[in-house]
Amino acid sequence: MFVFRDETALGKVVSVDTGTVVVQVHAPDRLQRLQVNRLVVLQARPGQPLIGVVRKITRQMDGEGVDEETLPGLTLSESNFVRIALVGTLFHRDRGQRHVFRRSLEAVPQIDALCFALEGPDLTAFMQVVSQIGAGDTEALSLGSYTLDAGAAALLNGNRFFQRHAVVVGSTGSGKSWTTARLLEQVADLPNANALVFDIHGEYRTLTGSGFRHLRVAGPADLDEGTASPDVLYLPYWLLNYDALRTLLVERSDQNAPNQSMLIGRLVREAKEKFLQEADRKDLLAGFTVDSPIPFDLDWVLSRLGEHNEAMEVNPHTKKERQAEFNNKLGRLIARLEAKTQDRRHGFLFGGRPATGELGYLDTLVERLLAGRRGQSDEKGGVKIIDFSEVPSDILPLIIAMVAGLAFSVQQWTPSDRRHPIALFCDEAHNYISDLAQDDSEARVAVRTFERLAKEGRKYGVGLVIISQRPAEVSRTVISQCNNVIAMRLTNAEDQSRVRSLLPDTLAGFADLLPVLDVGEAVVVGDASLLPARVRIAEPRSKPDSLTVEFWTRWSADNNPGGLSNACEAWRRQSFVTTAVQPVAALEAEIA
Ligand SMILES: Nc1ncnc2c1ncn2[C@@H]1O[C@H](COP(=O)(O)OP(=O)(O)O)[C@@H](O)[C@H]1O
Ligand SMILES: [Mg+2]
Repeated sequence: MFVFRDETALGKVVSVDTGTVVVQVHAPDRLQRLQVNRLVVLQARPGQPLIGVVRKITRQMDGEGVDEETLPGLTLSESNFVRIALVGTLFHRDRGQRHVFRRSLEAVPQIDALCFALEGPDLTAFMQVVSQIGAGDTEALSLGSYTLDAGAAALLNGNRFFQRHAVVVGSTGSGKSWTTARLLEQVADLPNANALVFDIHGEYRTLTGSGFRHLRVAGPADLDEGTASPDVLYLPYWLLNYDALRTLLVERSDQNAPNQSMLIGRLVREAKEKFLQEADRKDLLAGFTVDSPIPFDLDWVLSRLGEHNEAMEVNPHTKKERQAEFNNKLGRLIARLEAKTQDRRHGFLFGGRPATGELGYLDTLVERLLAGRRGQSDEKGGVKIIDFSEVPSDILPLIIAMVAGLAFSVQQWTPSDRRHPIALFCDEAHNYISDLAQDDSEARVAVRTFERLAKEGRKYGVGLVIISQRPAEVSRTVISQCNNVIAMRLTNAEDQSRVRSLLPDTLAGFADLLPVLDVGEAVVVGDASLLPARVRIAEPRSKPDSLTVEFWTRWSADNNPGGLSNACEAWRRQSFVTTAVQPVAALEAEIA
């Protein structure tokens, strides 16, 4: 690697400092080939060239007022200087391995050492080393090309990318969804892919091919139709763990909340026990807990609550009848529970029975959601895109966390030699992995699930890809566990500093690029690519539905889109109407 002829050198080293060198460039045409943030190679020990990043380029005419910082005490009549930050060493051979890049500097260049531009095929080859992609490219995840050298392919190590979690961040419209689609389609092309995409606006509906499966959380309309399609998901309430059930059912502000939570826990446990007795699964009785994935009868819980609310007892001292512990204290809890179960928007949680009320529904659901492509009965769709657009936003965090938690539990209970890794793509993550979640709220319960996943997921083969326009609002714990960063244009200062904190100290300068990136451009760094690089992400085959409305164009079109009556009907039904409603004008014409 790197066979440079001396005459192609940019120039020679004239000043050396810890981590920084200055190179003097004589030929002005060579200077023009250089740009800030480009990579260069510097001669050092044989077989161990140093790699540097161009930080500053200065041209000084007639030697007056040479930048003291750049070049203390040196004056020349015409001087072009390039300040370079050293970022690592390329070892041609290291412990039996060929071509290893390390972010350490064991030597510094000598004065007069030659400096070369790293470009073209050399750059591609070098970045491959940086991404630790072995020969044969079977691990390579292709993002696009380098902004500074369109001829060089930007590849990441696919193992490392998913092993230690990743974030894709950028202001709205910067190209996150397209980048995600680009990642997803490469995953989907693998013969035994396994990934879940949490799609909360239905943006990824447009991704097509046999590698994708589109699932949708049931909406109110599905309840009437009794949709039996396996692609319409029911996520029954009994899969919520105690913490989630408690925050869903008990009003936090109620002064009686702790007691109510305790009572709910006790009753749910009893109801699960009752289910196991009746289902003749007494073998499960010994080990089950309130969190076990066992169905229970919510109506039974409700009627028991009603009894407690009216219960009287006999005072053992006075022998007189008095109100029992919960008498008259559960009215609001009962009303809340009834309202929740009757709300049609919650149909995916409480409806869909009898099938969803059976013990074996867990197995059905788990195969649908968590089996890799070869584990699916039709061997299609390793990438499962779940459309959550009909889930009410107040319970969205709980529901997404329930699915994520399901993935985690199933991986935990699979013997390690038979575990098939799975990646969870969390689009618009600030909505459900929020750093702003209040203690003990539904959102907080969700965040805890993801924090656990971020910390322990790697051991169980669960990788997270966090996608967000507001990284500063995503749980700090989750973000800081992400060892790969694809940062697109970011304008907000708070968000920029969150990304900067993810970069190693010597490379923090790359964060300065964030506000000036073009749409579809990213700074990429992490485990899967040891040096930050500015990458132009290639377009995905099928584009996500970015849901951007072209105001001016639509206002310029001279037609009536006529969606209003549909909207009113949909609002009343709490569901997108499947049969088109006739506009009023048409009805009037019919009558006349
Ligand atoms: N890699 C890319 N190459 C070219 N255009 C892109 C690229 N990524 C995004 N765009 C453009 O930017 C628009 C917004 O991208 P999108 O991914 O929806 O942004 P975000 O999800 O960050 O809000 C797209 O509709 C497309 O026109
Ligand atoms: Mg988007």
